[in-house]
Amino acid sequence: MGYEIYVRSFADSDGDGIGDLAGITSRLDYLSWLGVDALWLTPFYPSPGHDHGYDVSDYRAVAPHHGSLQDFDTLVSAAHQRGLRVIVDIVPNHTSIKHRWFASARRDPDGPERHRYLWADPGPGGRPPNNWRSHFGGPAWTLDEQSGQYWCHLFLPEQPDLNWRNPVVREDFESILHFWIDRGVDGFRVDVAHGLFKDTELRDNPQIAPLADGMHPFEVFDAFEHRYDMYQTETTDIYRRWNHICAPRQVMLLGEVDAPWPDRMSHYVAPGVLDQGFLLWAARAGWSPEALLKMVRVMHEGLPQGVSWVLSNHDRPRPASRFGGGEVGAQRALAVTTLFMAVGGTPFLYQGEELGLTDGTLRHGTYDPVPVETAGAIHGRDGCRTPMPWDTSPHNGFSTSDPWIDSEPRPPQQTVAGQRADPDAPIHRYRSLLALRRKHPDMWRAPLEWIETSDPLVAALRRGSIALVANLSDHRTHVSLGSPGWQPVFANRQGSRLDSATSEAISVPAETTVVLTRGS
Ligand code: BGC
Repeated sequence: MGYEIYVRSFADSDGDGIGDLAGITSRLDYLSWLGVDALWLTPFYPSPGHDHGYDVSDYRAVAPHHGSLQDFDTLVSAAHQRGLRVIVDIVPNHTSIKHRWFASARRDPDGPERHRYLWADPGPGGRPPNNWRSHFGGPAWTLDEQSGQYWCHLFLPEQPDLNWRNPVVREDFESILHFWIDRGVDGFRVDVAHGLFKDTELRDNPQIAPLADGMHPFEVFDAFEHRYDMYQTETTDIYRRWNHICAPRQVMLLGEVDAPWPDRMSHYVAPGVLDQGFLLWAARAGWSPEALLKMVRVMHEGLPQGVSWVLSNHDRPRPASRFGGGEVGAQRALAVTTLFMAVGGTPFLYQGEELGLTDGTLRHGTYDPVPVETAGAIHGRDGCRTPMPWDTSPHNGFSTSDPWIDSEPRPPQQTVAGQRADPDAPIHRYRSLLALRRKHPDMWRAPLEWIETSDPLVAALRRGSIALVANLSDHRTHVSLGSPGWQPVFANRQGSRLDSATSEAISVPAETTVVLTRGS
């Protein structure tokens, strides 16, 4: 089981209000107690912070507010002592506008450095070269007044896209991989892994839906088929090369692949390419059980071990908020996470998900720099980025001074310390679930057989000595498991009444996922 750490907001050791690597080291015992196996750290590299670290200005260093390379080495060795693996984020689609590569590229339009990035002459009337859009709104092109050419950026203008057809870019990134592997990392999470290459002729993307005034930039982005700005076949050649570097050292490659279709995902996630892909679909969806169960089956059939299911990350409102809020939302989130344990590759929790947290409440202002840069068009990433609530000391134990993001303190029952003291709290359900997955590798390794149910809101499966029934409907259901002798060992609801034992059918309450074992 993996655990995403949003470094800015996890634990601050030096009292500057920003989370850091030493803070993470000080909380490793907690993560071991919880039972996770691997940590994914969001970017901690030097960055001017236009996209909170996803605009990297030096790929081989640590931003001073997050610590130092020595802190990184200490963290890795302390994690390894506890059997925890460390996965770092690598951002290859774009750099920061402040990276020295971009400075040289801009300075000398005729120099060789220019070709590290994507430049193009204006279209008719001085317009951008084609119809590509930035995820964050507006065209994916910004005019460089000095040279009269546009540079390409699928995100902010301050995140210029690299030119992956340039061998120098490939070589640089391979050397960056070596740099972190030599420091002991166990994996890379590849940001925007379906990006990187662009069409050589810079053709317009086909428009597939009408545009209207006031549309959210994500909707505008989705109104185009991304045939030419993303998903280019050459991208997988890069990951094959990376796999040659990583596989012999048992270093995992985990891509953020925005492709909720197995045929597309399987270009990237395949033997010799990326080991697993984060499927973001479920981290974006509201409470839509039928669509979710369909997606789980389709993806599992196409890529049985390749999908790393996540219900949340640092980019989207927390699942408890999206699924109805409060206790209801938290129960639904755990019901789905329980299913994720048995249907794919390595699932990940996002920090605080184990507490059943809803989004934090901001006191004032907006902190994600992207809304500021996009004049408010993109919003919604602050609530899931508020500090990890450790206890009821000032700033919930995150920092000794004001955190970088000004949010309401969490009450005791939403803190790690408060929940550890309460045997009925969500943290103990998550911990039991993680322990169960560890104890029963059949849960993710044995051949999966779906048990047919007549209700599209109910999924049931067997994997060796494990059976699982996810009843995401709003009423109790009965499922025949096909053979007797199953014992329930986990349910997302404390004290759920589960009839079972030696019978071959189980009755499962509404919005409840049950795991059963046999013969162990
Ligand atoms: C990251 C976002 C970031 C974007 C651009 C995403 O995958 O999760 O936080 O804004 O990439 O780098």
